[in-house]
Amino acid sequence: MELPTVPNTARMIDYWLGGSHYFPVDLEGVKLFEQGYPHFREVFQNLRDYTGRVSRYIESQGINQFIVFGSGLPTCGNVHEVVPQSKVLYTDIDSDNIKLGREILADNPHAKYAFCDATNLDSLEQSEVNQALGSLRRLGLIFVGVAAFIPDDILTVVLDKLYDWAPAGSFLALDFDGEVGLQYPQLLEFLDSVGAHLYLRNPTTIKPLLGRWQLTKPGILPVSLWEAELSAQPPVTDEAVFMYGCVVYK
Ligand SMILES: C[S@@+](CC[C@H](N)C(=O)[O-])C[C@H]1O[C@@H](n2cnc3c(N)ncnc32)[C@H](O)[C@@H]1O
Repeated sequence: MELPTVPNTARMIDYWLGGSHYFPVDLEGVKLFEQGYPHFREVFQNLRDYTGRVSRYIESQGINQFIVFGSGLPTCGNVHEVVPQSKVLYTDIDSDNIKLGREILADNPHAKYAFCDATNLDSLEQSEVNQALGSLRRLGLIFVGVAAFIPDDILTVVLDKLYDWAPAGSFLALDFDGEVGLQYPQLLEFLDSVGAHLYLRNPTTIKPLLGRWQLTKPGILPVSLWEAELSAQPPVTDEAVFMYGCVVYK
């Protein structure tokens, strides 16, 4: 595999979580992030723990088919590892992540990896969905770490389309990047320079984006506080709210 020349946020997260699927260019991104704020390891550990809790919560609602958008690397406590009895289809737009993901999951009969641009659901091949999940029942849709890259108007349309597409009784878990990011303009500039413009939001601006999806009881919370009591371990201390999360259902 030719080495990527542009850092990818998912591979930076893999580094922070103790994984082994990142490249020199991703470490340049890590260094720059940590110069701005030294605790991103904790921020992304909190985010991955949130992904684990929402996945287990959705499974506890009787769901055993998941589609993950903007998945990054299927490692370090990602969805198929926390709900191993469920079928999982990971998707991403980054060709290196897809290639790595397919290698990692090559021997796993329950988890597959496909291309999908989360801003255009038509880009997900129905045949990939069928192959990974079989006939569709109620779905768990995991939209973590990707809404921040999508502007409001497009995100509204995507979430609305997902609502129409998902069988009734499906659940969707999301996270959104908080406005604390405004305190780190050098990080926003860096992300812009690698084609990953960040849209920052707060609970008030997030709510209207959810459209017809119904909020579950915990509401929109900092990810480390979302059903924190379901966490196997107390959340890693994270004073600044870098991400908010919520689970919604149809
Ligand atoms: C911040 S990482 C999050 C990875 C993982 N979900 C997590 O929580 O650790 C963002 C991921 O979204 C992917 N991504 C960015 N824009 C996307 C889009 N429009 N459609 C699909 N994936 C996208 C990136 O390639 C990257 O893998």
